[in-house]
Amino acid sequence: MDSILVTGNGPLNGQIPIAGAKNACLTLMPATLLSEEPLTLTNAPRLSDIKTMTLLLQSLGAEVSSLQDGQVLAMSSHDLISHTADYEIVRKMRASNLVLGPMLARLGQAVVSLPGGCAIGARPMDLHIEALEALGAEIELKDGYLHAKAPSGLKGAVHEMRFASVGATENMVMAATLANGTTVLKNAAREPEIVDLVECLRKMGAQIEGEGTSTIEIQGVDRLHGATHQVVTDRIELGTYMLAPAICGGEVELLGGRLSLVGAFVEKLNAAGIDVEETDKGLKVARKNGRVTAVDVTTEPFPGFPTDLQAQMMALMCTAEGTSVLEERIFENRFMHAPELMRMGAQIDVHGGTATVTGVEGLKGAPVMATDLRASVSLILAGLAAEGETVVSRVYHLDRGYEHVVRKLEGVGARIERIKSDG
Ligand code: UD1
Repeated sequence: MDSILVTGNGPLNGQIPIAGAKNACLTLMPATLLSEEPLTLTNAPRLSDIKTMTLLLQSLGAEVSSLQDGQVLAMSSHDLISHTADYEIVRKMRASNLVLGPMLARLGQAVVSLPGGCAIGARPMDLHIEALEALGAEIELKDGYLHAKAPSGLKGAVHEMRFASVGATENMVMAATLANGTTVLKNAAREPEIVDLVECLRKMGAQIEGEGTSTIEIQGVDRLHGATHQVVTDRIELGTYMLAPAICGGEVELLGGRLSLVGAFVEKLNAAGIDVEETDKGLKVARKNGRVTAVDVTTEPFPGFPTDLQAQMMALMCTAEGTSVLEERIFENRFMHAPELMRMGAQIDVHGGTATVTGVEGLKGAPVMATDLRASVSLILAGLAAEGETVVSRVYHLDRGYEHVVRKLEGVGARIERIKSDG
């Protein structure tokens, strides 16, 4: 298994291009299942999760071609051959469950393996099931698979989610586009990736209003047609690289970044003493003098502070002046990076969903292990700021969500290299 060697070497300066959003692309790709006509996505990120979704769609009979070095995905679901999302693919990536709503709407049936838990928490599917049942689907669990059917089609309904789940919102919105009548989804998630999905569905002929608010209204149509859509900027990759100059010093411009994608995160960076400025090309982030100040962070659904930036923010807080309290409210087990950061000299106390971080003047390089996608990049950020060498192992987690991480950080002056393993 490959690892990444990082040697801390002071301020970073330059520009980093930000890719299209992994999480948007992973919900836009299954939208191809809703139509017989082609769907083309531009600005797609080059990631292993995208390859996994490609394999899943191909196993259902969709054609998926990766063009222009993977930045364009040309898809067609004219002839679907299967309605079963197999465990062997679903277990690799929870977002595989996003084929459930579209398949049910287009084919009247879907069999999707339950994803199982993952390192950051149990992550059940009950909210997806409740949403699709509200549309008239009959769903039962057999042999680890959800068997869903809607023999006489889905029917529009009013449904209020108990929690604003991102994935359940996406599944219900996609399913409702082809339902008979009007669907009103209350307490919907408001993430930018959902807005992006709705914009794409609208280009395909769907009638939807209210995306980005907590009530989304969908007027079902008989069929959707083809479209071309540009994937929105990845706000998590953006926030991650904004933390690079914050933790190392220097000034870095994140190309394609926009304040509207990272509002709550930027408020915390500002409070910690980091300057963020919107430019005509993106966002410029600078830490010019001294240590950052400790700030408290609570993760929340959008527009709150994203859980997917909590691990990276913790890396910054490890070097801050003062004590910060990080509260994780979305996932029950998302502090696995804490013991790894402690190997680098960080002072962190974890109690349940709360981590108390007492900033230290400097971190020290150490061998550390990535446990999940965002944890792995937090260790790289910590390594950039640490004295000496940090080796991050199990970087396959990183490949799921960050394209060209070595090239992008080298481009702003970091000393970082990937060490290939023979095994
Ligand atoms: C998406 C993102 C993920 C991000 C998360 C929260 C994708 C591909 N992934 O994941 O990167 O961290 O949003 O911003 O877009 N839950 C239930 N029952 C359900 C569904 C969810 O209890 O049926 C719980 C989960 O276990 C979790 C919380 O709700 O504790 C949030 O999950 P959800 O918003 O659904 O996240 P995902 O769509 O899985």
